[in-house]
Amino acid sequence: MNNVKEIAEGIFWIGASDRRLERFENIFPIPEGVSYNSYFVDDEKTVVFDTADVTVADQYLENLKSVLAGRKLDYLVVLHMEPDHCSQIEKVKALFPEVTIVGGAKTFTFMKQFFPESEGYNKLEVKEGDKLSTGKHTFSFVAAPMVHWPEVLFAYDEYTNALLSADAFGTFGALDGGVFADEYDFEKDFLSSARRYYANIVGKYGMQVQAVLKKAQGLDIKMILPLHGPIWRKDIGYFTDMYQKWSTYEFESDSVIVIYGSLYGHTASAAEAVAASLRDKGAGDVKVYDVSKVDVSYLIAEVWRCRKIVLMCPTYNNGIYPPMENLISDMAALTVQNRVFALAQNGTWAPVSGKLMSERLSQLKNVTVLENILTIKSALHSSDAEQLTGFTDAIINA
Ligand code: FEO
Repeated sequence: MNNVKEIAEGIFWIGASDRRLERFENIFPIPEGVSYNSYFVDDEKTVVFDTADVTVADQYLENLKSVLAGRKLDYLVVLHMEPDHCSQIEKVKALFPEVTIVGGAKTFTFMKQFFPESEGYNKLEVKEGDKLSTGKHTFSFVAAPMVHWPEVLFAYDEYTNALLSADAFGTFGALDGGVFADEYDFEKDFLSSARRYYANIVGKYGMQVQAVLKKAQGLDIKMILPLHGPIWRKDIGYFTDMYQKWSTYEFESDSVIVIYGSLYGHTASAAEAVAASLRDKGAGDVKVYDVSKVDVSYLIAEVWRCRKIVLMCPTYNNGIYPPMENLISDMAALTVQNRVFALAQNGTWAPVSGKLMSERLSQLKNVTVLENILTIKSALHSSDAEQLTGFTDAIINA
């Protein structure tokens, strides 16, 4: 059964949701599923913006055929050449041999790498400022390099004021029948997935997101059409403000997260004591996570949300407990900034993990690493009460 929706005059959503895929990019768990959005423009010329992932190919191609209703496809615009959106290019070309593929210079370089036969396709190369008129609609192209691949283009429809924003403004999460953000309670249904998507997929490229947000300020945008998740037609400022915050590495909440690693429960017990002490001192909404249990992508999303981050782990092979080291490496790769870190180290004979974490975290931009490291010798005891008090006082006062 086809599943398409007209979302603006002459523009149809023809995407599909996947609830079976275990991990996006074979990395990120997606228990909430994911949607792959594609858009069809029904005008004097027929146009498709991006295809979809191979996992939803059958549904996608059925949708495409249904909106075309026997007509030929004039243009396939490729805003992003990552395979979750470009996997069906060869199929579309086979179905509509006369189609002209529209993209930037880098788009076609990548296309040839993924699909060598594409060298012989009809192509229209565009760059920032170029326009594609299809009848009523005129799409102008905006370069969005490294958001989050180098070839990415946005397209702005001067007729409907819709911005086709590629991966930007996307979220994890399948669509439950509605395609618009205002059909959902976005904060309840999508915000945590949107934050996790942003932080992990786009988070490294804050400067590039800032550059494209500045370009977008010059456009009269009434709708945002991303390649994942719901479409924005109301309260767009809410989500662009969120992107502004996320892309400048500003925290959303002044609250504290405590992330611990623990082999046998002793550091876990200390983490619970730290959280309780913080609550007693008025820290408010404190969250505690086990770094071995919670997928790192969720922890990264929490790092994006909160200002103060407590990391507690054992010393392992004279180094940092490996799952904690993985989290710190991910934070460094994603260029986390503007945060306060408090550190605790455990070691039965030579606790050094706190010192080693401090060295790594101090290299991040605009971060404060509190000097007061909580040292646990095997287990935290009541005799450590003074040390614990000093540790949580420093976090409260930071
Ligand atoms: Fe949704 Fe960068 O692909």
